[in-house]
Amino acid sequence: RTLPTDFPSDFLWGASTSAFQVEGAAHEAGKGVTVADLRSQKSKYLDTSVSVDHYHHLEADVALMKELGLKSYRFSISWARIFPHGNDQQVNQAGVDFYNRLLDLLVQNQIEPIVTMFHFDLPQSLVEQYNGWASRQCVADFYHYAKTLFELFGDRVKYWLTINEQSLLANVPAMNGLQASDTREMRQLGEQSNYHMFLAQAKVYNLCHQMLPQAKIGPAVSYMTTLPYDHTSSDVLKSKQLEDLIGYIDMDVAVRGQLPSYYLRYLQDSQIQLVTQPEDEAIFQTGRADFLGLNWYSTSIFRLNQQANPKMLDGVISGVEKVRDDRIINSQWDFSCDPKGLRYALQKVNDRFPNIPIIITECGWPDADILEDGQVHDSQRVDYLNDHIYQLREAIRDGVNVISFNPWSFLDLISVNDGMNKRYGLVFVDRDNQSTKAQKRYKKDSYLFYQKTIVNHAKNV
Ligand code: BG6
Repeated sequence: RTLPTDFPSDFLWGASTSAFQVEGAAHEAGKGVTVADLRSQKSKYLDTSVSVDHYHHLEADVALMKELGLKSYRFSISWARIFPHGNDQQVNQAGVDFYNRLLDLLVQNQIEPIVTMFHFDLPQSLVEQYNGWASRQCVADFYHYAKTLFELFGDRVKYWLTINEQSLLANVPAMNGLQASDTREMRQLGEQSNYHMFLAQAKVYNLCHQMLPQAKIGPAVSYMTTLPYDHTSSDVLKSKQLEDLIGYIDMDVAVRGQLPSYYLRYLQDSQIQLVTQPEDEAIFQTGRADFLGLNWYSTSIFRLNQQANPKMLDGVISGVEKVRDDRIINSQWDFSCDPKGLRYALQKVNDRFPNIPIIITECGWPDADILEDGQVHDSQRVDYLNDHIYQLREAIRDGVNVISFNPWSFLDLISVNDGMNKRYGLVFVDRDNQSTKAQKRYKKDSYLFYQKTIVNHAKNV
């Protein structure tokens, strides 16, 4: 067996976004209200009603993708733009038209669409009807939504992603619109939702294979390199448990078709009981993913600390604290820049699921970029991309089957936690948290760097 020496010639060089973070037009053209819209109204940063107005800049944005040389574009469809209440009898035609226009433009420009069905923006009506993912009814409604997407767009979409970062949604149930009177109840709701999301995806993997035999489908998993602070077995073990419960759980269920034993043990220890049905086991067994989408940004270092404030990942990361190590470059938002961490992480996924195709669905560097004379010198992002692409190539040479790289993000968008203060884009969008301005687009240095990289790698292979 000969190993590849470079990126494969059909490698999909892409970039990534999500609907509520770029589209805007949140209350236009028949779209229903989502959990993300409501969260945005409560925060002074996250203004989904305008976002970066991709909805009204579609042609110009795709032209920028083409000029950049993108071979793929990973974006999400807003469930509530198709079904305003999540489970309506009829589709919202204006929403269908919007995604038809986007897909047609991508196809015309030879850009492969990689489509996420659900990225943090559950239709709020489903929360009001039955508590969203905490109810088993959501499995049926997601299935119907997915079936509709396959019927409407399956002729142009070969790569489908089901749910973005399910483990985060399970651990922060408020992101799915859930409320509870205490932490215990919240964790119960979070894990029951988790179960329903697993089940819904297994059913949808199966459906995709029946309806679109040429298409491929998988989850978009939150995955970081997790390292122990101390070389003691307790720290090493704890960091492995975190890695399992935050990163691998979504991969294990999608590839192996059952809930892993470390998760069952975790539920038992947390005294959480899931409501299941006898037929579920067979659903998990038969519904498997074809590839893994990985959202990988950085390395985190943990040490045991019984006093630590568990913060947002409450249950799973209780008793640990995240440690900043200055030997790794850190951004002001606690992201580290650790390119070899990416190669290591990819090797580990390949060890666990040999030769599984991997799409890097997110990877990126946050910064408070500044526009000066029409230019943005985002040199740290250029270094981040350069070094991560180098290590990605090393991973491919190691034998890891990575088929696509989609940095986060194609253009500046509203960050989930920090609005426009924290930018990830290759394209700068001229707006800030205070004013939406005219949303004019500017190519950053990272855009020009990535453009050259795509050309050079295409030449090399
Ligand atoms: C990923 C999400 O978790 O991280 C994105 O899929 C998000 O939607 C990204 O934007 C970065 O997080 P943040 O909070 O900086 O936007």
